[in-house]
Amino acid sequence: MLNTQLRHMLQAMPKAELHIHIEGSLEPELIFELAQRNGVSLPYPSVEALREAYAFTDLQSFLDIYYAGASVLITEQDFYDMTMAYLERAARDNVRHAEIFFDPQTHTARGIPFRTVVDGIWRACQDGPISATLIMCFLRHLPESDAIATLEEALPLRDKIIGVGLDSSEVGHPPEKFARVFERARNLGLHLVAHAGEEGPPAYIESALDVLNVERIDHGVRILDDADLVARVARERMALTVCPLSNVKLRVFDVMGSHSLRRLLDAGLAVTINSDDPAYFGGYVNDNYLAAFDALPLDAGHARTLARNSFEAAFLEPEQKRAFLAEVDAFFNQQH
Ligand code: HPA
Ligand code: ZN
Repeated sequence: MLNTQLRHMLQAMPKAELHIHIEGSLEPELIFELAQRNGVSLPYPSVEALREAYAFTDLQSFLDIYYAGASVLITEQDFYDMTMAYLERAARDNVRHAEIFFDPQTHTARGIPFRTVVDGIWRACQDGPISATLIMCFLRHLPESDAIATLEEALPLRDKIIGVGLDSSEVGHPPEKFARVFERARNLGLHLVAHAGEEGPPAYIESALDVLNVERIDHGVRILDDADLVARVARERMALTVCPLSNVKLRVFDVMGSHSLRRLLDAGLAVTINSDDPAYFGGYVNDNYLAAFDALPLDAGHARTLARNSFEAAFLEPEQKRAFLAEVDAFFNQQH
C-alpha cells in the first residue's frame, strides 16, 4: 500500500532505532577489508560468495554465520570503523537516535580485550553524526556465570553503557536463566531489555517481564499467541522492538504479507520498527519501514504512531525525548 507520498514520508520522518546489533551491521565488503587488514583468512573466496551464504532457515543458521563474520574484528579501530559506517548509514535514513546492541562475549572469547570492543564502539558514537548509546547483550546460549563475569568486567566502563540485553539462541534458554545477572544490572542502575518471543513462546515474554524486569521486549512478535499477555503489555505501554525483514529472513513469518505488525498495532501495543542485523537481512531501518508498509495495510497515521513510539520507548532524558517528539509532530503537521 505504498504510494510515492507515503514512501517519502517514511524515509524523511525523524525516527529512533532501538534494535540494531552492531556486529550485524558489518557489510561483506567491510568483512573482507578487515580480514585483509588483520591477516584473517575467511572460508569464502569473495564478497559475492559470502553474500550468497546469507540464505537462512532459522535463527541458529543466521547466528552461525554472524559469529563467523565478527571474527575479523580485532583492533579498536575495527570496532570504530564498523560503528561509524552504521551511524553514517542510519543518519541517511533520518535516524536521530540509536540504541546500539553489542555482544562482548563474541569478542572476549577470541581473546579481544573487553576495553578494545567498548572503546572502539563508544568513540565512534561520540564522533558520529547522530545521538547513540550502548546496550551490552549477554549471549543466552552460554551459562549465566559467563554473563555475570562479563558484567563485572564492564564495571570500569559502566559510564559508557546505558543498559543490558539478552540475545543469541532463544529456544531452550529462557529469560529466567539470567535472573541473577539482570538483578545485579538493575542494582547498578542499568536499563534492562531482552529478546523474547522471536522464536520462543509468549511464556518467555512473560518471564522477561516478571523475572528479569525488562523495560522493553526485543521482537515479541509471538505475543499474539496469548491474548491475556497482549492486553497486559498494551496496558503497561511496554514497547516491542519489531524487526520485519529479520522476521521474514529467519522464517518467523513466511512472507511480509503475513507479518503480525498491523495486528500488534491494532491491539494497542507500543510497536517500533528496527533493522536488527541490517547487513544480513536485506536492509537498514527505512528498508524495514518500506517493506512492511508495502506488504501490509498501513497508512500515514501508522507511520506517525511508529515514529512517535520509537522515541517514547527510547532511554532518553525527558527533555531530549520531548524535543524529538516535537520534531516528529512538526514533521507530520507539515505534511498534507
Ligand atoms: N535474535 C537473537 N540474537 C541475535 C539476533 C536476533 O535477532 N541478532 C543478533 N543476535
Ligand atoms: Zn536482535
